Amino acid sequence: MNIVLLGAPGAGKGTQAVRIAEKYGLVHISTGDIFRANIKDNTPIGQVAKSYIDAGKLVPDEVTCEIVRQRLEKKDVSAGYVLDGFPRNLIQAHELDKFASIDVCLDIDVDEALLLERICGRRVCSCGASYHISTLNGKDTCAKCGGKLYAREDDNPETVKARLATYNIQTAPLISYYGAQNKLKTVMCGTKTPDEVFAAVCGLLG
Ligand code: AP5
Ligand code: MG
Repeated sequence: MNIVLLGAPGAGKGTQAVRIAEKYGLVHISTGDIFRANIKDNTPIGQVAKSYIDAGKLVPDEVTCEIVRQRLEKKDVSAGYVLDGFPRNLIQAHELDKFASIDVCLDIDVDEALLLERICGRRVCSCGASYHISTLNGKDTCAKCGGKLYAREDDNPETVKARLATYNIQTAPLISYYGAQNKLKTVMCGTKTPDEVFAAVCGLLG
């Protein structure tokens, strides 16, 4: 099963992708995570991506599509994958259809008012784990590896507003794109707890 996860910044794509990948034996592919790893390692891709990510804009389509195309050529995706954060505009969606076959698009629906609070309270670990301050009880280390938790650089109110605007203008049209292909399944309860959202996701995926 090949899944596209849609949703605004902070909708819970990463949180649900980890769970979906584990339960259904799929590979989790997050373009945001790939870019952040490249920025950390100061690669040429990271050098290009940084200014766009800091500004809350999309990294150019040629760069992003090529990364995903190459990633989907690896053998480990043969049992299926969850694309988290890709595609993010119509150009990317059309490009993806040239080199992949998507079975289902899950759209996580969350009120915009809640997104800022979720994102600004997010703390992440370099191992990939992600938390929210509301459930950390003041802890600042990762429960999985003991690493020090920190806020993502683009999780500040100004950049988040730009990311939300980018989402509304460029990414939201993909809801109709996948709807027209009869592949869209909407997770209506995105404001509920991660467990409740995951139960709804499993209900939709079967
Ligand atoms: P990316 O890393 O994809 O960020 P994003 O889309 O802005 O989404 P987030 O990762 O912020 O949110 P999420 O939906 O994963 O939520 P999460 O589960 O973490 O992209 C970053 C940047 O990279 C982009 O701005 C762009 O510049 C670039 N980029 C990436 N892909 C690209 C592409 N295809 N093309 C071009 N550029 C690209 O949850 C958020 C918080 O809420 C966490 O604290 C979590 O614990 C909490 N939470 C989650 N679910 C719940 C719940 N149900 N209840 C309560 N709290 C919850
Ligand atoms: Mg994410």
